[in-house]
Amino acid sequence: MMSVDDPLTVTCTAPVNIALIKYWGKREEDKILPLNPSLSITLDVADLRTKTTVVASKQFDRDRLWLNGKEHDINNKRMQTCIRKLRQGADDLWRDGKLMIAKEEWKNYRLHIISENNFPTAAGLASSASGLACFVYSIAQLLQFKETFPGELTTIARQGSGSACRSLLGGFVLWESGTALDGSDSIARQIATGDKWKSLRVIILIVNEQQKKTSSTAGMQTSVQTSDLLKVGGDRNIFLIIRLIKEKFRAKEVVSMQLSRMRDAIEKADFPTLATVTMQESNQFHACCLDTFPPIFYLNEVSKEIIQFVHDYNADNNDITVAYTFDAGPNAVLLTREENLEKLMNSLHQKFGFFPVTREGVTRSVFENSQSDRIIRSIVTKIGEGPRVITRSIDHEESLATKEGKPKFIC
Ligand code: DP6
Repeated sequence: MMSVDDPLTVTCTAPVNIALIKYWGKREEDKILPLNPSLSITLDVADLRTKTTVVASKQFDRDRLWLNGKEHDINNKRMQTCIRKLRQGADDLWRDGKLMIAKEEWKNYRLHIISENNFPTAAGLASSASGLACFVYSIAQLLQFKETFPGELTTIARQGSGSACRSLLGGFVLWESGTALDGSDSIARQIATGDKWKSLRVIILIVNEQQKKTSSTAGMQTSVQTSDLLKVGGDRNIFLIIRLIKEKFRAKEVVSMQLSRMRDAIEKADFPTLATVTMQESNQFHACCLDTFPPIFYLNEVSKEIIQFVHDYNADNNDITVAYTFDAGPNAVLLTREENLEKLMNSLHQKFGFFPVTREGVTRSVFENSQSDRIIRSIVTKIGEGPRVITRSIDHEESLATKEGKPKFIC
């Protein structure tokens, strides 16, 4: 078996992010340029994360990728774009004052990329975001990628999957829609750390583990083509276009207004406003899905019950102490403050039956213990930091690769 002497490797983690102002629709498909800016919070990697080990060697015959223990095709266009751009920006590797690899040399190295999530893939939990962010970040670390402008790495992650660019940063993250044709100004940047929001708690309610039916990529494509709520489609008649431009429609007017309310709330640590805008945004995103033709239903009956529960809970408390948001799937993400967490969890258990709460990712045994037929389990987490390097040693217990550059665990 081929062995790799002193393998060049790195192992990194990247977080999941949850959009409070949603990205839905592209103005340019190839470069993944969004119709509107979006804003997210980064979740704590202690609870939910992708971990990726990259090994580089001249002895590998091709680039390869393993996800959760299974080999996947790395030849899809998005990943190839990311790898190409990362190789273009590679720089010299120095160790102890000695030049180990000159930047021109990297083209002779092939990459083995081994990645795993500690949560179910494609369950509406933005696995593509943390996955692609970790993919880009880890390769960048290994190849000594040097940015030629601030935020360049986020423009590369964006081309892997739009929402991935937001997972490269911690705290509150804004992904600018930008105006440049080459997409160089459609970058993600941190607009606030989580410092003022240490008591914010994020509860992910897993209501359904099945693979989602319409992917975000396909769903937003149809929305752009057919939903008047989202934007004016190219083939709409001129009177409709004038009416919609005069009135407020989502991609331009609504998002910019909600974004400024949200930014103000983040700055002032104003939970009720942040919560209100978050719920309105989620509802409008799902309204756009419903306005897509044929309509896309991401929410199921349990999701709707959770929405009703939150509004009733806030009304009973005469205050806005909890908010919901849903992405392209039925799982709910609730926001609340720590002082309200216990009461809220008790009320959820009363309403939906007992379901286990975990902080340590997801295990089968926990899953099987659920006494609720509607909510399978929940994960309680908080705001966290961006990606980080765990180790540059293949022997480290956190490394996912063997010395030969293969996955330690294969399914
Ligand atoms: C509903 O980033 O998965 O989660 O760019 O086509 O890969 P592609 O789509 P993706 O879309 C995420 C959509 C969303 C909202 C959001 O995260 O902002």
